[in-house]
Amino acid sequence: MLAITFKGSYSTVRPCDPTWNGTMALSELDQMACLTYVPSIYLYRSPKNSTAATIAETLEESLSKVLVPFYPLAGRLQWIGNGRLQLQCNAMGAQFIEAECELSLNDIGDDLSLSRLHGNLFPSVDFSLPIHELPLFLVQLTTFRCGGFSIGIAFSHAVADGTAAVHFMSEWARVTRGKTLQTPPFLNRSVFRAGEPPLGLSPPPTLDEYPEYGNPVLIIGQSDASEEKKKKTTTAMLKITKAQLEKLRKMANDSYEKPMARGFTRYETICGYVWRIACKARGHKKEQQAVIVTCVDSRSRMTPELPKEYFGNATFDVIAQSLAGDLMSKPLGFAASKVRETTERVTDKYIRSLIEFLKNLEDLTEHIDNDRVLGKEDGPFYGNPRVTAVSWLTMTTYGFDFGWGKELYMGPGPCEDDGNFFLIQSPEGDGSVVVAMCLQEAYMDEFKKLFYEDMP
Ligand code: COA
Repeated sequence: MLAITFKGSYSTVRPCDPTWNGTMALSELDQMACLTYVPSIYLYRSPKNSTAATIAETLEESLSKVLVPFYPLAGRLQWIGNGRLQLQCNAMGAQFIEAECELSLNDIGDDLSLSRLHGNLFPSVDFSLPIHELPLFLVQLTTFRCGGFSIGIAFSHAVADGTAAVHFMSEWARVTRGKTLQTPPFLNRSVFRAGEPPLGLSPPPTLDEYPEYGNPVLIIGQSDASEEKKKKTTTAMLKITKAQLEKLRKMANDSYEKPMARGFTRYETICGYVWRIACKARGHKKEQQAVIVTCVDSRSRMTPELPKEYFGNATFDVIAQSLAGDLMSKPLGFAASKVRETTERVTDKYIRSLIEFLKNLEDLTEHIDNDRVLGKEDGPFYGNPRVTAVSWLTMTTYGFDFGWGKELYMGPGPCEDDGNFFLIQSPEGDGSVVVAMCLQEAYMDEFKKLFYEDMP
């Protein structure tokens, strides 16, 4: 871990004006979005004419302004039974932490974000507190010896997905630069029928239609995932150049025999590739069922489309499953087509029926994958033989200028979840993509080796 000194300044930033006070129902997609906090980081060069103290003061002031329109982020969650939550919009505020690091920005490696080494740059969430006391947004401003600084954030996934978080960050940056809000958040969760009872559709949607919510697939020969869950994970940032990506895409397209209306996207191609390499690196038997999870944003898949500024979770997971033997022996187009089949299922009808399916679940507790929040150790395990993809390819992840210039670096925070990977577009805008991968330590070397060896 980096040597970080905390200044003893843990302040609470509340909205600077009165905000709506009351209980906001969360949608089923919010409740299922897992109770994790999503960490990410922005690094900035040493600004001219600003000290650490003025940066902190400016950020706190602008945060208190932006929390007025984004008031749900200043609220607190509350259990309402059966693993369900609601949001108390009570202006309790966000947490703002100040810290100092003895190193210079140059001393930090370039796979900064996912590695646990850098965990101290992110605000830590005190899960020993009851959920109704936990802030939903935490910020850590860390100043480096060179005068550069980082803004590490942790965002509660129960109130906002990646697109909503990026919208908030972009508005916060604008307001810090002295501008007015560009687009207010769209807070109406009625499109997902938040707080409403099931419609009572007949026949009701079943688990067969939504296998994502069934028991996770196990490694052949294991009766539960307890052993896999204990294994340590590690991370790697693997870059694919634009030229490599185009060759991979061609390899996937050329190898797929069935007629297609369009070629494979970057996402489908890379996911198919990572999935089959993971099967090989993990040494799966041919008969092993292997799973890939895609986090789908439903905003543009709804009719009518949901505004991009929808501030909540419009994302959910869909899975593709295949025999590892097929993934490893068939051409890349096979794995890519499996990924496509699952995301193409997600239509307006699918989403509305999914909401009904989730409303019909009596208790959501068994689906909550954050043991720390629940203070237990036997929550579900979503690692080996599964991989989970999170695409940042189409999100505006760069260019957040808080008034001290654009960031030097932006990326996701530490990850310990076996099989999770992020697809991140290169900040240089050269068309390359970084696969930020988390895998059990025992398989990472083989994964990295095969990742480049198998590349056309
Ligand atoms: N800006 C630029 N390009 C866009 C775009 C946007 N807003 N939306 C889509 N595109 C491009 C894609 O990049 C892709 O082109 P490519 O092959 O050159 O990459 C093409 O249009 C098709 O995109 P899409 O229909 O989204 O399919 P996909 O296979 O690229 O991605 C999903 C599939 C499911 C990952 C994607 O639709 C999605 O939902 N992404 C959001 C994920 C998300 O919310 N991440 C944060 C999680 S908290």
